[in-house]
Amino acid sequence: MNHLKNPWRTLIEAAATSPSPHNAQPWKVRIIDETQSELFIDRKRALPDEDTTGCFMICAMGIFCEALAGIAATYGLELSAEYFEPSFDNELNLFAKLNLSKANEANAPFPRELYSKRKTSRLPNVKKSVADNLLNRFKTIKCATGQQLSVVSDAETIHWMMNLNLETTFIDMNNGPYRKEFHNWVRTNPRESAERRDGLDARCMNLRPIEFWMNANFYWMYRIPVISTFIKHWYRFRMGHIQHFGVISGSFWDSQSAMAAGKYLLKLWMEMAREDVHIHPFGNLVTNREARNALEKKLGIENIWLVFRMGYTKEPPGSYRLDVSEIIID
Ligand SMILES: Cc1cc2nc3c(=O)[nH]c(=O)nc-3n(C[C@H](O)[C@H](O)[C@H](O)COP(=O)(O)O)c2cc1C
Repeated sequence: MNHLKNPWRTLIEAAATSPSPHNAQPWKVRIIDETQSELFIDRKRALPDEDTTGCFMICAMGIFCEALAGIAATYGLELSAEYFEPSFDNELNLFAKLNLSKANEANAPFPRELYSKRKTSRLPNVKKSVADNLLNRFKTIKCATGQQLSVVSDAETIHWMMNLNLETTFIDMNNGPYRKEFHNWVRTNPRESAERRDGLDARCMNLRPIEFWMNANFYWMYRIPVISTFIKHWYRFRMGHIQHFGVISGSFWDSQSAMAAGKYLLKLWMEMAREDVHIHPFGNLVTNREARNALEKKLGIENIWLVFRMGYTKEPPGSYRLDVSEIIID
């Protein structure tokens, strides 16, 4: 069909660089033949106590599909998919049947190298705002299901959002099931990180391993007013000056919408990566219902499903990924 010796393996290896919450990488692929494969959600890699609706995992699956299609296009291939209602009932749940064919025209949305260049950056922003014309370009990225990017750049609102993020983190970390699940994805030992190749590696969190470990284990300190005030100041100091927050709103809380939202998110993230603009999502501002309500009221925006700090940073460290042999199943 194509000059590629093993097309699925090649595409999966490149799409494995896709972002997912907690770097959980919930995707598995069964190759049927050169043109057909099946994509599954791996329940072991879902986050039922943080992502209680499953929509963020479905969003990640949407991201992975979008990456596969975009990378296939760089090889002159077209990826089509038949989607199934996402489920977490079984260990592996069929998400889509995928088909590869020769593309009629060259229409790759992004160069192949950009997929591995895109990274989350939790490093402090350098002192440079994102130009208005770029922000406007990001805001007009098209999406069939009407997602909308809004940008917050005023210092008072940014300060309020940071405070809300820290207070929400303190509340969430004092919620037993939430904390236990989060712990499973914390990687503070460099050897364990390199071996497991998933999860939140301290190296990528802009935290020393001991800081990340304390943050995950000494959550009860957040309840002590003087200490929590100190921790808030320390976090703010570590994050540095924030010029912009991005806020994505639109339909999200059902499986079809979440998948389409994932496809949109990858497009937006890739456009930003092309311009060296980095993002750092703040998931708990939307997974925590009270925080989301407060945010929607403050910003006057409905249906917010993702909030992120955005701007220029130094080159962030790259996080590990599962080996392609762990993604492909028999
Ligand atoms: C839907 C979604 C939500 C995310 N939420 C957070 C978050 O709350 N905090 C955070 O630090 N990173 C968040 N991330 C970033 C992931 O942790 C990151 O993509 C993953 O660790 C892989 O790293 P990379 O993006 O540098 O390749 C999120 C990513 C996605 C796709």
